[in-house]
Amino acid sequence: MHAPSSAPRLGSVISGELVRPVAPRVLQSRNPANLGEVVAELELADAATYVRACRAARDGPPGWAALPPPLRGRVVQQVGRLVEANKEALAALVTREVGKPWRESLGEVQEVIDTCTFFLGEGRRLYGQTVPSEMPDKQLFTFRRPLGVVAVVTAANFPVAVPSWYLVPALLCGNTVVWKPSEQAGAAAQALAELFWHGGVPQTALHLVQADGAATFAGLEQALDAGLVDKLGFTGSTAVGRRLGELTGRHLQAACLELGGKNPLVVAPDADLDLAVEGALFSGFGTAGQRCTSLGTAIVQAGVYDDFVERFHRAASAARIGDPRQDVLYGPLIGEGYLKRFEEFLGMVADYHKLYGSTGVGRITRDNPREGLVGDPDAGLYVHPTVVAGITGGDDLYRLETFGPIVGVARYDTFDEAVELANGHGYGLSAAVYTNDPRTAFQFRERCTAGMVSVNNSTSGAEAHLPFGGNGLSGNGSRQSGMWVLEQFTSWQAMNWDYSGRLQKAQMDVIEPPSDLDYRLS
Ligand code: UN1
Repeated sequence: MHAPSSAPRLGSVISGELVRPVAPRVLQSRNPANLGEVVAELELADAATYVRACRAARDGPPGWAALPPPLRGRVVQQVGRLVEANKEALAALVTREVGKPWRESLGEVQEVIDTCTFFLGEGRRLYGQTVPSEMPDKQLFTFRRPLGVVAVVTAANFPVAVPSWYLVPALLCGNTVVWKPSEQAGAAAQALAELFWHGGVPQTALHLVQADGAATFAGLEQALDAGLVDKLGFTGSTAVGRRLGELTGRHLQAACLELGGKNPLVVAPDADLDLAVEGALFSGFGTAGQRCTSLGTAIVQAGVYDDFVERFHRAASAARIGDPRQDVLYGPLIGEGYLKRFEEFLGMVADYHKLYGSTGVGRITRDNPREGLVGDPDAGLYVHPTVVAGITGGDDLYRLETFGPIVGVARYDTFDEAVELANGHGYGLSAAVYTNDPRTAFQFRERCTAGMVSVNNSTSGAEAHLPFGGNGLSGNGSRQSGMWVLEQFTSWQAMNWDYSGRLQKAQMDVIEPPSDLDYRLS
């Protein structure tokens, strides 16, 4: 496996300048469907470079925040247009770098466009309020203020859509941004950043740092100490989110944390089973199970359990898996680390579980083949889809997020048990219920602790303008997307203006309207 000399060498871009590390550590970003192909070589930054980017974001020209919001909205519009004009090229790069199937990559780029479409209009809203005062000749107002410097750290599974959920509203609100993408997706990140810059976002308002997690954590710690960061947005694992939440909490900041999920899909006895299986197949195995919204455990009523498992087995066995450029349900895992972790999850299968879904378990190779695999098994990081039936509330496979194409199936008798299993692991990102009974649907909505609930739809595939985020182990209650994310990137400023010409003291100089509280109806 030799790097072809054509692979671009990428690095951190601070105020438009490629910053070369003093002692460069180069990481090769490889195509997970064709490991011999190097997509890009990344020069990884050290902590000092991360701090330098934050300082540039803090000390750069104030022009971006000073630009009237409608004009920032206009820039967001141009970014959206440019992403649309480059949709296929960007999607192709996403497929090549993280192995996402072509149609999903197109959907992912569409999500960036949708996000721009939503926020271009927000430039002309970004409403504040006029509020009546308790005193005459006085008026109250509220204004949204940008926070300052926003540090964004994102994962590889959605290398452009999820970053856009941070970048677009943060910039629209007048903040400057330091973006640290996943090292597994450095080329897609560079491409997206180029589209932002060419669309009109000043290079002094958006900085890109290519670094690993350790350098980023150290750099962020120093930048926070130096007062250079006002907000952190992070999408990634619960373990890292916890550390980042602690770090930012020490600085009295509430980070926007979008963490893991163990998303349940409850199948009620009256459910349309084919629909439920279709939903379980897509959310369990689409994106090779590497979404934070991927299905964790299907929780199936005892009366339809065997039928569901049988149909799910047939659907998973028949699914086309392989070369992500083809029409497949899923392609390779994103990288070697993901494969290693996936194998650890398989190690949690107990002897009382039953496995379904494929002709083998673990990595697909010539010796461990998958019937109907599209493409060369040895060229990429392909794994068998695995359905683990017989999951119970005590299993690690029930409790832990398992990033990869592995789905548990648990049995329940009563609705109370279904709710208990749906919530009991402590995550709370997305949950689905399949039922045709409105009572079941609304009762599940009410009792389920997830931030997002689907009825007769899978756990993944949220639309780009609804609040996205979770509770418990899935996050700290922050929400992204739509109008709700504005709370993450602005703070409210209250203003009062007294034009009475005298000091009117709130609560004390307020006239009490006359009333007769002794009055009773006779
Ligand atoms: C993620 O995996 O971090 O709702 C985000 C979905 C996608 C976003 C997933 N629109 O499945």
